[in-house]
Amino acid sequence: MKIKEIPLQTILSKNAGSCFGVNRALKIVTEQVQEEGPLYTLGPLIHNPRVIKELEEKETFSLTTEEIDALDAGSKLVLRAHGTAPKTEEDLKAKKLILVDATCPFVKKAQEAAKNFSEKGYSVVIVGEKGHPEVESLLGYAPGAKVVASVEEAEKLAMSDSFWAVSGASSGEATLKEGATPFARIGLLSQTTQQEEVFEAIKSVYAKEGLAVEAENTICQATRNRQESAKELAQKVDAMVVLGGKNSANTTRLAKICRAYCPTLHIETPEEIEVADTKDFLGKKAENLRQWNDKMSAENLGKEPLESPEPREEPLTIGITAGASTPREHIEELIESLRKKSS
Ligand code: F3S
Repeated sequence: MKIKEIPLQTILSKNAGSCFGVNRALKIVTEQVQEEGPLYTLGPLIHNPRVIKELEEKETFSLTTEEIDALDAGSKLVLRAHGTAPKTEEDLKAKKLILVDATCPFVKKAQEAAKNFSEKGYSVVIVGEKGHPEVESLLGYAPGAKVVASVEEAEKLAMSDSFWAVSGASSGEATLKEGATPFARIGLLSQTTQQEEVFEAIKSVYAKEGLAVEAENTICQATRNRQESAKELAQKVDAMVVLGGKNSANTTRLAKICRAYCPTLHIETPEEIEVADTKDFLGKKAENLRQWNDKMSAENLGKEPLESPEPREEPLTIGITAGASTPREHIEELIESLRKKSS
């Protein structure tokens, strides 16, 4: 059987691809470049290497902090969608750069939550990924905040005497653990692209410990919609393809969610699928899936390849979703590429 004869059906997730915040940031950059160009951004505007390359072709360049030092006063610098710490912003203003703020409004909401908790004297805990630019910006609004990415990390932190000191502080009946430092209460918030279940589970960890927790769920609606739709689709199809930057937190999370239900491939470009090289992919449906599994190698999967597959007539169904920083055109290109391979 030739590659052209692969029986394959693609189904696009209800919510996939670029979100409000990313579209807004790209619009701001496009308008600014049209006005003056060239333009600079503090780090990648969004986490999608293909889009960053396309922006470079349009005279918008991502710079590191060191490279920014070499910019002339009066140069225009765009603050990325992930947000910027206030101290960094002050430093950039001191260099007399003209700042254009493309921070997503939902990231700003999370920044406000961090600031409010911090100003109230709470011990701030951020559910997120250490080192991610958005989390770094949140830390700028809540200096000294702790960052946890999982229930395990939250539990470990809860066991740490140096941090969790008091329970019942809000009622004025606080009791200090031996050798611990007092604090008022915990202010819990989230990086905007985290998973709802993880946030809620971490909240429960602290509540179970009898600690006073005030939680502000700052996961954005775009993230929720993409995750819910991907989960729903992954349960119905034979395999999922997740399109978007490998450095994108929300795209990586979509792939993780899908992997719990079916073989999943996270790609940045359609070429990565390399269906054309997978000759055995053309056999029985179950055999197709086994080959698919094999292709996914290291980043995949936790599921054993199927044994003794039964021949099936239906086409292989491939669900497609894409991260919040993946433009619509890239999704269409992927669907078209799969369509060509299967027709
Ligand atoms: Fe903003 Fe959420 Fe997109 S925080 S950038 S709308 S993923």
